[in-house]
Amino acid sequence: MFDLRQFAAIAPDFYQKLHWHEQLESTNDEAHRLAEDGVEHATIVLAEHQTKGRGRRGAEWMSGSGDGLLFSVVLRPQLEQRYYGRIALAAGLGIALVLIDEFSIPARVKWPNDILISSKKCCGILVEASNDSVVLGVGLNVLNAPRGDEFIAINDVASEPVSREEILALVLAAIMGEVDRCAENFALQLNRIEAISYLSGKKITFLSGEQQHQGSVVGIGEDGSLLVRTNGRLRQFAQASDIQL
Ligand code: BTN
Repeated sequence: MFDLRQFAAIAPDFYQKLHWHEQLESTNDEAHRLAEDGVEHATIVLAEHQTKGRGRRGAEWMSGSGDGLLFSVVLRPQLEQRYYGRIALAAGLGIALVLIDEFSIPARVKWPNDILISSKKCCGILVEASNDSVVLGVGLNVLNAPRGDEFIAINDVASEPVSREEILALVLAAIMGEVDRCAENFALQLNRIEAISYLSGKKITFLSGEQQHQGSVVGIGEDGSLLVRTNGRLRQFAQASDIQL
């Protein structure tokens, strides 16, 4: 079970803003509800277990009870809506840098919302905007990953056993810093994202809507979209799925 006392001792400011639940359908749903009630920026919802955790495009987010960190943050960003695509990238940068800098784990950010270790997914990010708030949901595999070759947990690769309480404190600080920065100076942040981007310079196939595309990744645009050269033409994709190398 997540140790709230330990978390309060490590991160008293975040603890003040934390809503902890043993079980929820989805922390994103609860965060939207709190946002409608008017809670402040950086309110956090954390659940030990989700019965209807969701990923992008209606996919299910699976995580065994207590295996990972399942949380959502209510944001009231100082950012025009057309730049909301930056938020998942900024959060991904923050989380990946915690893994790299604090645990020497070679994490990579895969546009638009995944963090990979050895080409396997250890974290997914789901950003949902409503009227005057944004909910940033994070599913991070810490102790165990769900079954399947495509997933990995931090504990699978860390040199020492990791503590969920410590990781949550570190990633929250990193996320909040990077989300602020994506509004202030995204160009600078983009260089840092590109440096650990899994797709940089790679040839990929992907779906945009129903249509399949093939091309080389050139970079990320100022609104957070993916820049791809396809058939000699530079194109910008705000949404894409099933991205394969
Ligand atoms: C993805 O990879 O498609 C995004 C997955 C996001 C999962 C997290 S778990 C906490 C929060 N609550 C949800 O229902 N989803 C996000």
